Amino acid sequence: MNHLLSISAAADGYAAHVGELGRRYAAAAERGGFDAIVAGSGVLEYRFADDQAHPFVASAHFLQWVPLLEHPHSAVVFRPGQRPLLVVYQPEDYWYQPPPLPAEDFAREFELRVIRKPGEMAAQLPAGTSRLALLGPEAQWQGLAPEAARNPPAVVNVLHYHRATKTAWELACMRQAAAMAAPGHRAAEAAFHEGGSEYDILAAFLAACRQTEPELPYGAIVALNEHGATLHYQHRDRAPRARQDNHSLLIDAGCSVNGYASDITRSHAGHDGEFARMIADMDQLQQQLCAAVRPGLSFAVLHRQAHLGIATLLERWGLVRMAPEDMVRAGVSTAFFPHGLGHLLGLQVHDVGGHMADATGAALQAPDDFPRLRFLRPLEAGQVVTIEPGIYFIDPLLRELRAGPAGARVDWGRVEALGRYGGIRIEDDILVTTGEPENLSRPWLEVPSIRGMPPHDCAPFLR
Ligand code: GLY
Ligand code: MN
Ligand code: MN
Repeated sequence: MNHLLSISAAADGYAAHVGELGRRYAAAAERGGFDAIVAGSGVLEYRFADDQAHPFVASAHFLQWVPLLEHPHSAVVFRPGQRPLLVVYQPEDYWYQPPPLPAEDFAREFELRVIRKPGEMAAQLPAGTSRLALLGPEAQWQGLAPEAARNPPAVVNVLHYHRATKTAWELACMRQAAAMAAPGHRAAEAAFHEGGSEYDILAAFLAACRQTEPELPYGAIVALNEHGATLHYQHRDRAPRARQDNHSLLIDAGCSVNGYASDITRSHAGHDGEFARMIADMDQLQQQLCAAVRPGLSFAVLHRQAHLGIATLLERWGLVRMAPEDMVRAGVSTAFFPHGLGHLLGLQVHDVGGHMADATGAALQAPDDFPRLRFLRPLEAGQVVTIEPGIYFIDPLLRELRAGPAGARVDWGRVEALGRYGGIRIEDDILVTTGEPENLSRPWLEVPSIRGMPPHDCAPFLR
């Protein structure tokens, strides 16, 4: 529950972060013609006809101001030129433990008000609300300030565009989120080699990261054998199994720190041999792509390079007899690698703003050959992106390939034999800098001395 253990607001630039956010909100207010912007945390949502709530996840607009993860009905009220007001909902309750107030290092950046009932928020909104923008889910604002704009695009576009560029505070959170996931990935690999089920492997991951499942930034993908061919595989098979049944593991799992995500994938082979060598080749390609990350480079260009690299592997492995350039042109590499090379990462695992040309919200067009690419902006220093090439054996895509003009170039016997491994994906979180990119995730997975350490003990390694 306590995500503030290893990071210090004072040492990691939290005050400067709030200052930068103030400048972004001032620009957003000016563009939209608003006197005030309120970022709401959201509300608890209940199951249908039930008194049990879904896990609460605070809205990213609110979390970017202050890491209060368990505080529905709260908000930050921003007015240009004034100290931001933090309204924290803290009910008198004896059924549930009310969430704590922010620690002093965070609270000192705000004027702080506590409300005991959600309805008390009305009195905290600026008076004369005709030029007021309310951000967050409508459920929090129902019946309040009817004349106020809800999530006006002019405001949201400015905030989402700039969210791609991380402050020092955000990077400290993201480095920690990456570090926390490393012991989980190690424990998951060990559980896989012991013959664990998907359920066992997930349990090992969670225990080693010391996160609960609802705290994770996205549903962990723990896919054994052919399940790796389902890109966002979500089940947790728990039938007992033997070590020799575990041919491959694709684990895509990250942690969350102060609302900031890591998004990390590793692939493992159950035994030495062809598939283990394929993983090693993919790892090499992934590291080359990570190293190519530079400001000014279009992500679409890097995505195309990934296709060329994957096509080269398909040829080298003897799966497709065709020149790599021709494979990319004919869509053969897409049949094996049908998703984007990566995406922006931050408060949301697939963070916002990837299609924006600028702060007006003007959209960038995806290239015709890769219409589903999530991130189209040129790379800029301060952005964090994932780099996650993969290769999969996906039945419907392979059937289509087989029926098409390139079908005769594929060694179907070998492709079918590889189907039991599902696929390979390798994913790291990369900070774009003005020079060499910084891989936020890989160093933690390669430092044996942190094996098995609880996450707060990782702190000394962070700086
Ligand atoms: N974990 C989902 C993704 O890699 O995009
Ligand atoms: Mn992932
Ligand atoms: Mn990802």
